[in-house]
Amino acid sequence: MEPKLVLILFLLISATATCEYIRPPPRKTLHFPWNSKLSAHPQQVHVSLAGDKHMRVSWVSNYKSTLPMVEYGTSPGRYSNKSQGESTSYSYLFYSSGKIHHTVIGPLEDNTVYYYRCGGGGPEYKLKTPPAQFPVMFAVAGDLGQTGWTKSTLDHIDLCKYDVHLLPGDLSYADYIQHRWDTFGELVEPLASARPWMVTQGNHEKESIMFFKDGFQSYNSRWKMPFEESGSSSNLYYSFEVAGAHIIMLGSYADYDEHSDQYNWLKADVAKVDRKKTPWLIVLFHVPWYNSNEAHQDEGGRMMAAMEPLLHAASVDIVLAGHVHAYERTERVNNGKLDPCGAVHITIGDGGNREGLARKYKNPQPAWSVFREASFGHGELKLANSTHAYWSWHRNDDDEPVRSDQVWITSLENSGCIAEKKHELMKILSEP
Ligand SMILES: [Fe+2]
Repeated sequence: MEPKLVLILFLLISATATCEYIRPPPRKTLHFPWNSKLSAHPQQVHVSLAGDKHMRVSWVSNYKSTLPMVEYGTSPGRYSNKSQGESTSYSYLFYSSGKIHHTVIGPLEDNTVYYYRCGGGGPEYKLKTPPAQFPVMFAVAGDLGQTGWTKSTLDHIDLCKYDVHLLPGDLSYADYIQHRWDTFGELVEPLASARPWMVTQGNHEKESIMFFKDGFQSYNSRWKMPFEESGSSSNLYYSFEVAGAHIIMLGSYADYDEHSDQYNWLKADVAKVDRKKTPWLIVLFHVPWYNSNEAHQDEGGRMMAAMEPLLHAASVDIVLAGHVHAYERTERVNNGKLDPCGAVHITIGDGGNREGLARKYKNPQPAWSVFREASFGHGELKLANSTHAYWSWHRNDDDEPVRSDQVWITSLENSGCIAEKKHELMKILSEP
């Protein structure tokens, strides 16, 4: 071969090799100057949806600040409305929390910026309510923790014009060290005080100690979600509606068998769904049912056996899960097989926590698995209209968000699946 040709070939091969993704190493847990003496000023402010046209503002202060009051309005510094809420606190071993406040504000205009302050003073915050109509954009990232990669993921989410953040479990990775809940609250405040963060629990929220502490005390105290507003008796499972989507947040760590409170609540909740009003039906929980990573294999099997027939009969469009620290997207699937009336399952547990990535996959890749990769990142789900949604996964490529997987998803609303499974759904709903 001509020397010139060899050189050109060598350069071409080198160029191809440099395009290959070199996965960066894990990043350390961030160190925050944590002060056990809280100030009277509000801290760890975050907002969540709380029923039609209402939002809940949650924050932490010291005990001198007694008012669970939020003042708000649509112009900076001018608060034409105010609401009173409730306060709580908890103790955990040698730790005593600050005063945790939850105040529901509203009725609020759709797709509108509100300025607010908490507890009668302190800094002004700004939030935007979600739109009432399509399009609506969701940011999705689970298993966040508080490392350098978490920060990178949050910075990338901040760049996307999203309306609501969906978090399928494992928030702070406090893991019994309670002040890490405070530092996590501070880390996410810039985003979580500006857009509603809707979360469900993961195993890292449990923090139970045998014979001594029940689980989820810190999580339930700090991250109150609209369970009462959605007819649930537990903060571990609830539902809400945004624009044209009905979104169900399930609890992988609450009882889920067919005689459980959660299952009975789920039956009542899907019975209320009106696909004309909310064409998209989306479900979140922590432990994935469709997972071809070697990590956490079959952990979701029992919940899947109990609940998948009901979710399938209800024609769920998309299931978002976490737990496995990697990304995976499936075809529409049900009962382990490809099914055009099944749900698309997405595992997005790669927010950036200190435990690192789950790198080993089972081979061969199952027929239902379309895309899988062990990298940190976040997802964006844009519901464009009643029939089409655009899903993209953004890998944290060094410090740049790189769109690595993307797909248009068509809703089941006009597919014939809902009519086809009507009797199947009625049969399950009528079972005692
Ligand atoms: Fe987990």
